[in-house]
Amino acid sequence: MKKKVTIIGAGNVGASVAQLVAQAGLADVVIFDIVEGLATGKALDISEACPLWGSSSRVNGTGAYVDTAGSDIVVITAGLPRKPGMSRDDLLSANADILKGVTESVVKVSPEAMLIVVTNPMDAMSFLAWKVSGLEHRKVMGMGGVLDSARLRTFVAWEAGVSPADVETLVLGGHGDQMVPLPDYTTVKGVPITKLFTWDMINALIERTRNGGAEIVSHLKTGSAYYAPAASIFEMLKSIILDEKRMLPTAAYLSGEYGVEGVYAGVPAVLGRGGVEKIMEIKLAEAEKEGFERSVSAVRELIKKMGINNQDD
Ligand code: APR
Repeated sequence: MKKKVTIIGAGNVGASVAQLVAQAGLADVVIFDIVEGLATGKALDISEACPLWGSSSRVNGTGAYVDTAGSDIVVITAGLPRKPGMSRDDLLSANADILKGVTESVVKVSPEAMLIVVTNPMDAMSFLAWKVSGLEHRKVMGMGGVLDSARLRTFVAWEAGVSPADVETLVLGGHGDQMVPLPDYTTVKGVPITKLFTWDMINALIERTRNGGAEIVSHLKTGSAYYAPAASIFEMLKSIILDEKRMLPTAAYLSGEYGVEGVYAGVPAVLGRGGVEKIMEIKLAEAEKEGFERSVSAVRELIKKMGINNQDD
């Protein structure tokens, strides 16, 4: 039997993930949205593409949580996207309310599910989802690092004039403005970019990556990025469902790793059948360590603003 993936939010990101999962035949998909007919319409459209993709995934749209029952993985994209000039943090209180309600409803009918949180500010929302769900922390994670990495890989590939497939990178810390890219671990076919580019160039590429989401918002004006976010979620889903054990930058709960306790932050994690199966601890340079700690403090600040208890109880 195929795994069941539920996607909460049939907006740009949610529908794009549903398409990728169905097109690959990776799992059966349920799309849920509160806007009447939205999830049903998109699910029907995707279903009708399945014969053309040679996919046997079943795709259903719904506005009733009972239809999401027994999900193996739930991707939460429900929320308000960023508008021009808005930071991810501005979204905090509106999206916290949405996320809390969604998480409660999801775990009621899928108590065994894993959760992948996409709603921004994602690191803080992952913490909230973990708290509200009562799930083990290895089962609750956030998507951000894969996207930040993909953005950096793109810009490095353009600059080097090579395929992005030959570029690898590692990004730590919070999603977006607070991310901590690691130039020593950013390579073109194994060659660190520190050996290929000047520091001015490296810093420019990093700056563009940091603002990658905002750059797209400034063009779109009425919404935020969704193709690359969806592809990033898909990569995480695939690693979990196929037990690939890919090492992917993931917002994961830290219990002492990197000297940090009781918070979600972006770290290299091995994703497999068990969810976050392992967090890889790599040696950081002093400036990177400081950047990571700043980023963790920013997440803690948001958690405090949401008024949730920051203890693992
Ligand atoms: N339950 C279910 N769906 C909801 C809820 C809710 N309580 N509240 C809002 N939604 C739905 C909206 O109806 C909408 O269809 O979530 C969907 C969000 O879709 P978009 O507005 O298109 O946003 P999208 O671009 O997909 O971004 C999704 O990713 O980047 C983050 O912060 C961003 O939270 C946003 C998420």
